Amino acid sequence: MKVAMIGTGYVGLVSGACFADLGHKVVCVEIDATKIARLRRGEIPIYEPGLDDIVTRNVEAGRLSFTASAAEAVPDCDAVFICVGTPPREDGDADLSYVYAAARGIAGHLSGYTVVVDKSTVPVGTGDEVEAIIRDANPDADFDVASNPEFLREGNAIDDFMRPDRIVIGANAPRARETMQTLYRPLMLAETPIVHTSRATAELIKYAANAFLAMKVTFINEIADICENVGADVQDVSRGIGLDSRIGLKFLQAGAGFGGSCFPKDTLALTGTARKVGRPTQIVEAVMAANAERKRRMAEKVIAACGDSIEGKTIGVLGVTFK
Ligand SMILES: NC(=O)c1ccc[n+]([C@@H]2O[C@H](COP(=O)([O-])OP(=O)(O)OC[C@H]3O[C@@H](n4cnc5c(N)ncnc54)[C@H](O)[C@@H]3O)[C@@H](O)[C@H]2O)c1
Repeated sequence: MKVAMIGTGYVGLVSGACFADLGHKVVCVEIDATKIARLRRGEIPIYEPGLDDIVTRNVEAGRLSFTASAAEAVPDCDAVFICVGTPPREDGDADLSYVYAAARGIAGHLSGYTVVVDKSTVPVGTGDEVEAIIRDANPDADFDVASNPEFLREGNAIDDFMRPDRIVIGANAPRARETMQTLYRPLMLAETPIVHTSRATAELIKYAANAFLAMKVTFINEIADICENVGADVQDVSRGIGLDSRIGLKFLQAGAGFGGSCFPKDTLALTGTARKVGRPTQIVEAVMAANAERKRRMAEKVIAACGDSIEGKTIGVLGVTFK
């Protein structure tokens, strides 16, 4: 199949390279001219173990290329993935301006039947807006809009893409579902579970997943606070509860609170959506507040350990990670 990725950052580059490795012909589009120049020189602009080999192999095989021009990449594509950033706005909602700009940028170049796929993390209803933008700009276009949220973790992204726990495909039109199935067939043959849903459901799944994981992290951090006060060991508590298959060991390591590029913005965006529809989420709001408090207390502990002032002190940080 012929595929274009709009946005060649973490998600666009990793999934574009992996789709090429699965045998599809992929063109990655990027507005940042320096990124394109680096990629064309064979340099990988992000740190992701194994990605350089996959990119080199597929560029050499003629299955993967990079361009700044949607006009070059989009015509005749079976699927066009929107993989641009959705950072938080000042009010906490996701900034969808890049997604909408990408939709406007591809609308005029669609030819033949195309599935426009939202891979960016976007609030429920964004797919409807993307569809309206394209329909408005190009009333004759033959297309559907699907949602295919990405769950990869930075630093483990290739494995997460090639061996995911599941693939979520949110498509209202049967034709779009078929295209998406063909695209992912090699992973389906490896028995990856595919969750077929409506577009709105798929959009919500991504936020619900991240909010749940943020909740697990925050939960064990609160247990860690209790442990500290009663002389119990939180790592043993973690193992003791995590070995219960209903709970699971992952995301149960107590620490300084969650951060990174996704959990803070996705929990914020989910609570925003929940409030907008008149169903504020008490749990996720509590998770965000508890996490903010955790980070503040960590800072206080560091200050106390430095003799109540960090002025002029050099602080070493151990265990810095992606997320
Ligand atoms: N990074 C992760 O771990 C991760 C995991 C899952 C989902 N996501 C989600 O995926 C989306 C993308 O995240 P990312 O980390 O890849 O972002 P990123 O900032 O690394 O990449 C986005 C890229 O899109 C480019 N871009 C913006 N507008 C464009 C346009 N109109 N045409 C072409 N290129 C354009 C930017 O220059 C940038 O290089 C976000 O919604 C994010 O929440 C990220």
